[in-house]
Amino acid sequence: MSSAQAPSETPRHYQLFIDGKFVDAESGKTFTTPNPATGETLAEVAEADKADIDKAVQAARRAFEGKWSTISARDRGRMLYKLSQLVESKTKELAALETADNGKPIRESQYIDIPSVVENFEYFAGWATKIEGETIPVPGQMFNYTLREPVGVCGQIIPWNFPLLMAAWKLAPALAAGNTVVLKPAEQTPVTILELAKLIQEAGFPEGVVNIVPGFGETAGAALAAHKGIDKVAFTGSTEVGKMIAHAAADNLTKVSLELGGKAPNIVFADADIEQAVSGAMMGIFFNQGQVCCAGSRIFLDERVKDEFLDRFKARAEKIVVGDPTNAATQMGPQVSEEQLARIKGYCDIATEEGATVFAGGCSPQLEEKFQKGFFFQPTIFSEVKNSMRVAQEEIFGPVTSVITFKDEDDLVRQANDTIYGLSAGIWTRDITRAHRFAKQVHAGVIWINTFNMFNAASPFGGYKQSGYGREMGRHALDLYTQVKSVWVDLSGKPIGWFGN
Ligand code: NAI
Ligand code: MG
Repeated sequence: MSSAQAPSETPRHYQLFIDGKFVDAESGKTFTTPNPATGETLAEVAEADKADIDKAVQAARRAFEGKWSTISARDRGRMLYKLSQLVESKTKELAALETADNGKPIRESQYIDIPSVVENFEYFAGWATKIEGETIPVPGQMFNYTLREPVGVCGQIIPWNFPLLMAAWKLAPALAAGNTVVLKPAEQTPVTILELAKLIQEAGFPEGVVNIVPGFGETAGAALAAHKGIDKVAFTGSTEVGKMIAHAAADNLTKVSLELGGKAPNIVFADADIEQAVSGAMMGIFFNQGQVCCAGSRIFLDERVKDEFLDRFKARAEKIVVGDPTNAATQMGPQVSEEQLARIKGYCDIATEEGATVFAGGCSPQLEEKFQKGFFFQPTIFSEVKNSMRVAQEEIFGPVTSVITFKDEDDLVRQANDTIYGLSAGIWTRDITRAHRFAKQVHAGVIWINTFNMFNAASPFGGYKQSGYGREMGRHALDLYTQVKSVWVDLSGKPIGWFGN
C-alpha cells in the first residue's frame, strides 16, 4: 500500500495468494470489484476456480504436515502477535481500503473494524501456548490423558459485511491451534484480505499456512466446501448457502461450523429509559448500513410507549448523515452492491403489499453527482408490522427495521421466538429480574441487556436454530479448530487377563 489516501482512481490489481506466492488464476481469469459509493472499479482481482482451490488445498496440506507442524506453540503465538501489530500499524490504509471496497463509513472501518481485527489476532496469539490436554482419573493401573490437536486443513468462506474482521475471526483461532487455511473472501470485498496476505508473509508464517483464493461462491466457494482434502469448513453468510455448505460437507463428513442469518428482536419495555432504547435501536439497525447478521431488525415495542418511542426514533433516523463514506462525519455509506440495494427496495414493496406502513425512509437519498451511481439507501422504519409478515420473518440485510407491538411479557416471548433464526436479541428495561428472565427465555446465542452490538474477541458469538452452529471468538472458538485425542497407557506391565492368562 503506497499511501494512507483512499485508493486512487486507477484500478488496483491483485493475484491469488497460494503457497506463499502471489499468482494468477490457472484459467487466467479475473473479476472486478466496484467502489459501492461511486460504482467505479476499485480493483481487478484474479478469479480462483476449482483448479486453484486444488492447488491451495495441496499447499495447505504440505504446510500442515511439514514446516508448520514443527513450529512451537510459542512461535505460532509470536507470529500472530506480530501480525496484530502489523495490522495496527496499517490501520489507516486498511480502513481506507475497507471503506472503498465495502462502502462502510470510514469512522467504522477505522475505529471499529480494523481495531477489532487487531484485537482478535492479539487475543488468539495468547491462546497458542494455552491449548492443553487433560489427565483423566480412570480406574485401575491405567494412565489416560488427552491431546488437543489441530483439525488440519481448514476451508474458510467469509462474507462481505465485515471483510477483514470476518477473516480475522476465522484465521486467528485456526492458526493459534496449529491448523492451515484456505480462505475464500466474498467476491464483493476481496481487497483488504489480499493486503492482509502481504502482512501474513511479513509476520513470518511459512508458505502454505494461509492461502487466499478470491472467487465466486458457486465456483470457488462450492469447490472449497466440497473438497475432499479439507478437514473442516467454516462459513459465514446466508442461511441458504449455509445449508448448501452443510450438504457438501456431509459427503466427506468434513467438520462444519456455520454463522448464518438473523432476525433479532430488539425489545423495549415501558419501564425502559426511552432515550437509551432509541439509541440502541439506531445502533441495532443502522450500524454498517444494517448489513449485520445480528442486526436488531425486529423492534418490539410495549404498546404503552409505542408513540413516544416511534416519534423519537423517526426524528433521530432522519438526522443520520448518509453519503460519502470517506468523510469522517458520515454515519451511513452505501449498501455493498447493486444486488443488495435491489433486494432492500424489493422488501419495501413487500412491506406495503403486506399492509405495513413505511414510517420513515423507504427510498434512496438524493446525493451529489459523484455518488449517483452509488448503492445508497435511507434509514427506514416499517411500522404496523405483524410478526408473521415476510418483512418480520426474512433477513433483509439493510437499514430497514420492522416495528411490532406487544401487550405483555408472555405475548412478547412467544413472538420474539417465532422465527427460524436465533442469533441475538436485545432488551431494554430497568427491571433486572425481567431482563434476566428474558435472557433465559429467548432462543438466541447472544443477549444484550440495555445495550446492542457489543462484541469482544474474548466473548463467544454464534447462533441457535437456523442461525448456525459453533461459537466464534473466545475460548469456544478453539473447540472448532481442535480435536481431542484420548491416550491410554498401561501402568501394570501385565497382560490383559480377560481371555485368561
Ligand atoms: P452468500 O451467503 O451467498 O455469500 C457469503 C459467502 O458465501 C461469499 O463468500 C460467497 O461467495 C459464498 N458462497 C455463495 N454461494 C456459495 C456456494 N454455493 N458454495 C460456497 N460458497 C458460496 O450471501 P450473499 O448472496 O452475498 O447475500 C445474500 C444474503 O445473505 C444477504 O442479503 C444476507 O441476508 C445474507 N448474508 C448474511 C451474512 C451474515 O453475516 N450472516 C453475510 C452476507 C450475507
Ligand atoms: Mg449468494
